[in-house]
Amino acid sequence: MSSSIVIVGAQWGDEGKGKVVDILAEYSDIVVRFQGGNNAGHTIVVGDDKFILHLIPSGILHYGKKCVIGNGVVIDPAVLIEEIETLKKRGYAVNESNLLISKESHLIMPYHKVYDVARERLKGESKIGTTGRGIGPSYEDKVARCGIRCGDLLRKNIFFEKLNENLIEKNRFLKDVLHEDGFDAQKIYKQYMAYAERIGGHITNTSIFLDNAIKQSKKILFEGAQGTLLDVDHGTYPFVTSSNTVAAQAAIGSGIGPTKLGMVIGVSKAYTTRVGEGPFPTELKNEEGDRLREKGGEFGATTGRPRRCGWFDAVALTHAVRVNGLESLIITKLDILDGLDEIKICTGYDYNGRILEDFPSDISVLQDLKPVYETLPGWEQDTQRAACFEDLPLNAREYIKRLELLAGIDVIMISVGAKRKDAIMVKNPFET
Ligand code: IMP
Repeated sequence: MSSSIVIVGAQWGDEGKGKVVDILAEYSDIVVRFQGGNNAGHTIVVGDDKFILHLIPSGILHYGKKCVIGNGVVIDPAVLIEEIETLKKRGYAVNESNLLISKESHLIMPYHKVYDVARERLKGESKIGTTGRGIGPSYEDKVARCGIRCGDLLRKNIFFEKLNENLIEKNRFLKDVLHEDGFDAQKIYKQYMAYAERIGGHITNTSIFLDNAIKQSKKILFEGAQGTLLDVDHGTYPFVTSSNTVAAQAAIGSGIGPTKLGMVIGVSKAYTTRVGEGPFPTELKNEEGDRLREKGGEFGATTGRPRRCGWFDAVALTHAVRVNGLESLIITKLDILDGLDEIKICTGYDYNGRILEDFPSDISVLQDLKPVYETLPGWEQDTQRAACFEDLPLNAREYIKRLELLAGIDVIMISVGAKRKDAIMVKNPFET
């Protein structure tokens, strides 16, 4: 029996991890976010209510569960406070005992957001298509060792000192290079001290908290954000986010050792989507792609941007299996494929007449290859009504079995609609 489970996206994000974590949270005691920030948007539907969570782990929607925002996350305090208030207004308890924030998580500062947007503007055609939330610049400061951490909110003098040090360089760069206005230290200080009043009580040493929980055999769910192909090392660099999104980051980003991580599960849509710029081998720039977008409601949960859509890419999936060490797979949005005559799966890439079976890391190769497809028959019936695997139409079962074979791992859950009940749990990972 696994007592800790890591959930990661196996594609370019938006795989439906929020819903999966929401379902599995019921069987766990603690849910942990370990990377990313409010670039993520996890959509969860409870009854007739829809929630989009950007920072708070999806476990918050379950009574009695603890939620942790680990050191690997970058936090925009204004967004966090708004999220807490919205949840409270909708009747959910969010307090200092069920939401813990790592002292070592980094803050997103106002200048990070201006940097993000202004840099993209300067890049023009070669822009990354970021969410503009200041995620990359905050991680840059972390690695450059000048970042300001959540724990600094609790030490006024140190916060003010660090802010002033940062602004010397930041204001020059903002004015001279980005042609933007500079920032006033006093103004930011006051704003952030007001945030500290609101969230200070949540900030603690979450590494110690999690270590104690592990010693007490608590069940922990690590909730990944974005997806494998947006990982800063293993994704389609430079068209990636600025954090490691792969499973190993669950240890680093929450302050526990890798030996404490249990089963690693990947989440993948039954087709593929991507937001922002960058290579996408199976992208459909035609009415088939438009159909997936419309039927799948493929518009960004954070930015509202239309998502690019395409067929399932098994080459990308085997890459995700390898770099995450995936042991099981969860397939979401199978219902979106209902009613298609044929469904394609990409099983290789044709690069100048040579067939590649492994996902290339070189962006120039990725941009130039053509997907090699195998075609499977579709199904007419509505999969949303299926209560178990056997209830699915034969061709839908065959499609899932083919994905399992290509990935070399089992599919343990299939999501067939937006609601909690629209999911087929083949195997409960907390019970196997
Ligand atoms: P950033 O994370 O805002 O720096 O954006 C970098 C790239 O990651 C852009 O292509 C974004 O669209 C993409 N991205 C970031 N977060 C998500 C997410 O949660 N889902 C899908 N794409 C994302």
